[in-house]
Amino acid sequence: MSFTIKKRLFTPGPTPVPYYIRQALAEPAIHHRTAQFKEVLIDTKAKLSRLAESENQTVVLTSSGTGAMEASVSNFFSKGDKVLVVRAGKFGERWGKICEAFGLDVLYYDIEYGDSADPNVIEEIIRKEKLSGLFIQATETSTGAFHPIEEIGKLLKTIAPSTLYIVDAVSTMGAVRIKTDLYNIDILVWGSQKGLMIPPGLSFLTISDKAFERASSSDLPHFYFNVAGELEKQKGGSTLYTPATALIVALQKALDKIFEEGLENLYKRHKLLASATRAALIEIGFSLFPKHPSDALTVITKRNFDFEKARGELLNWFGILIAGGQGNLKGKIVRIAHMGYFDIVDMAGFLGAFKLVCSEQSEIKGDPVKRFTEEYNKNE
Ligand SMILES: Cc1ncc(COP(=O)(O)O)c(C=O)c1O
Repeated sequence: MSFTIKKRLFTPGPTPVPYYIRQALAEPAIHHRTAQFKEVLIDTKAKLSRLAESENQTVVLTSSGTGAMEASVSNFFSKGDKVLVVRAGKFGERWGKICEAFGLDVLYYDIEYGDSADPNVIEEIIRKEKLSGLFIQATETSTGAFHPIEEIGKLLKTIAPSTLYIVDAVSTMGAVRIKTDLYNIDILVWGSQKGLMIPPGLSFLTISDKAFERASSSDLPHFYFNVAGELEKQKGGSTLYTPATALIVALQKALDKIFEEGLENLYKRHKLLASATRAALIEIGFSLFPKHPSDALTVITKRNFDFEKARGELLNWFGILIAGGQGNLKGKIVRIAHMGYFDIVDMAGFLGAFKLVCSEQSEIKGDPVKRFTEEYNKNE
């Protein structure tokens, strides 16, 4: 059975790429050692820092988000440095693996998957341990949970001001507001293929002066990800190596569109889509998996429900791809994105299709599309 001729991504990265970005990507190639590229890079970097609400410089890397995660370890720490990693899902696990690979002394704050960090526990740890850094996600994409990064940043500032605060906001930027400087974030790690609406291939680091001071004494090996070297070059509109020029041109366009919508509207749209999608899915018998959900995606669970079958049918019947659970969560949850280029019609359409495939395996009471629009209008 198939009801569509289109493919639709509802995955938490990569996300749908708008037509105006595809047009930008189709422009003739430009060379990276030209005045034209220099202008694009300088402007784009300034817009990235503006979106991150930071006075600090943002460095653009040609890599996936994990490259920026690695660079934030290999450039700012030294062998044996004691760091805290908040591990509440697959991406928290990744922080730990990177830190361990570079020989850091890693302390874990393990949290049940689906839950978020408790600032009181963090306070206890940072009062006891002298830490060089604290690594955390804003949105833990594997569970849909949002960590209280603002509170943790404020705690660090008052109790442990020398600890570097590194926040992975790869799946958060462009969907949920991050006030980098106000939250005292020293290194903000982000990427291109989620809320920013462009294809995979770029990652970003927004870096405080405090972090750069630390970088000068780092003894960890790095070559391609030379953040200080990149920053020096990029301030002048150039890069150390050949960057993904087409993606940077597309990124400039994406940021222009984001500022055209306006940050208040951008975050409000994500909040509305998140709350209405959740209300609709609860209406038809699902539960939210995370206790404190991020507005970037919705993650649901239900006992005795075959999520993998539903995912397969959504794809076969409607061309809709949603993400399943990873690791131990496989088959127990699904992850539905509304970060980036999504609007009310996308989510209402998704919910109608989802109800149909779910009805194949259990009786579904309630009308998710009606509940979605009620909730959306109530909060508009
Ligand atoms: C929170 C988070 N961190 C890091 C990454 C890694 O990014 P990439 O897959 O681009 O390396 C992702 C991507 O899914 C993510 O969601």
